[in-house]
Order: sequence, then C-alpha cells, then structure tokens
Amino acid sequence: MAKSRSSSGSRRARPAAVITLDGPSGAGKGSVGQRLAIQLGWHFLDSGALYRVTALAARQAGCDFGDITGLVGLASGLNVRFEPQVGSDACVLLDDRDIGDVIRTEEIGRLASEVAVLPPVRQALLKKQQTLRQPPGLVADGRDMGTVVFPDAELKVFLSASPAARAERRYNQLKDKGLDVNLARLAEEIRVRDARDEEREVSPLKPADDAYIIDSSHLSIAQVVERVLSLLRKRQGR
Ligand code: C5P
Repeated sequence: MAKSRSSSGSRRARPAAVITLDGPSGAGKGSVGQRLAIQLGWHFLDSGALYRVTALAARQAGCDFGDITGLVGLASGLNVRFEPQVGSDACVLLDDRDIGDVIRTEEIGRLASEVAVLPPVRQALLKKQQTLRQPPGLVADGRDMGTVVFPDAELKVFLSASPAARAERRYNQLKDKGLDVNLARLAEEIRVRDARDEEREVSPLKPADDAYIIDSSHLSIAQVVERVLSLLRKRQGR
C-alpha cells in the first residue's frame, strides 16, 4: 500500500501549515507572532507560556522540581488556550481564566527554564503543542518549534536581537505592566536564562538548519511581520 494512503485507502489530509518563530527572550517573537496570527487568521501558540504555566502550577501545588512524575502529571493535565492580541501579550486562558499577567514575571520565566531542562516534561508538552496544529494554520513561538515540535513547518524563522535591545524591550514590557524592574538586573536574568536554554542537552535554543534568521535589533514589529509575510509568499510561490 502506498505510504501516503491511510488504512481506509483515502489520501491523508495534509497537516495545517505552520510558521515557527524561535529565538531568545526579548527578540520580539510574541509580538510578531500574534500580529502574524491575526493578519493570517491562523491559530497562535505561545509555547513559553506552557512552560511558565507548568512552573506556576508546580509552585502552587508545592510540587518539587525533583518530582518528575508530579510535574509530568501537571504538564499533561493543563487545559490552556491562547488568544492573540495586538499591542500586548497573548491572553493565556487556563481553564478559561486569563492568567497571562501572573506568569509573565522574570521569576516565573526562570522557574520555567528550570522545568524546561527536564526531558519528560518536554515530552508531555510536545503532544499538547502538536495538537494545536489546526486549519487554517498555526503560528508557533518558542525555542524548539522549528527544530523539534514542527520540523516540517512551512516556514521557519529564527528571530534574534542584540542583548541590549532584548533587555530594553523586556524592561519596557514589564514597566508597562506596572512591575518594578531594574534594567541591569533584568539584563543579567535574561543572560542566565538564555545560557540555560542554549546549553541544555534536550531541545536547546538554536536555529533549525532551514530557518531564515532575522535580526530585529533595528526593526519595528511591523517591519519584521512584513519580512515574514514576504518569506511566506515566496515559499508558497506567490
Ligand atoms: O518564551 P518565554 O520567555 O515565555 O519562555 C520561558 C522559558 O520556557 C524559556 O526561557 C525556556 O526555558 C522555556 N521554553 C522552552 N521551549 C519553548 C518555549 C519556552 O524551553 N519552546
């Protein structure tokens, strides 16, 4: 039997198109990804939020990061969906309750990156992420979207920016939320978190071999969105 036919003999439906946006924190993936999703009318996945929610749930449940079974249970049971917004972070709905603001502190970011080094937790979240691939398409933002979660994506982008630009963006985002932040401390926290993400053994932060690399240090969100859309049009032969 031909590989592309299912057991009933009919052709398997082509999976929905995916654009992956990977890169370090503060590179603009979230803002760019949400605008792309809204403009294309596609779904949006903020995979970092899944790691953040897992870390928060573990803290609330008093689950130690050495308790792998407990963490996997928490990660597998998450009922999370995302609603992209223009001009702010995506709504993260956990059991229909928006917990976006609670998970976006640097402290939860650090805990998320500690949980993210654990292979069984990544495995539990992998399936959850892949189920969000639904028609008409998905824009997926994270660290390993193009390398591990959606290796067959239609378009892969790795978004980078200088450490100074990234720290300043995160600083402004947190300030806008009314949080008390210190730029030098934030820059150091981001440096430590990125190093942990790049150096971990499983699914480290790195561009996929076939990713387009965009340096957003001197580009506006709208300019990056336009570049990605133009790459997508080229890939789709339009
Ligand atoms: O993107 P965000 O800053 O919300 O991600 C929080 C942390 O979650 C990252 O620092 C990283 O450790 C982890 N993460 C990951 N893989 C992803 C997305 C996020 O390991 N695809």
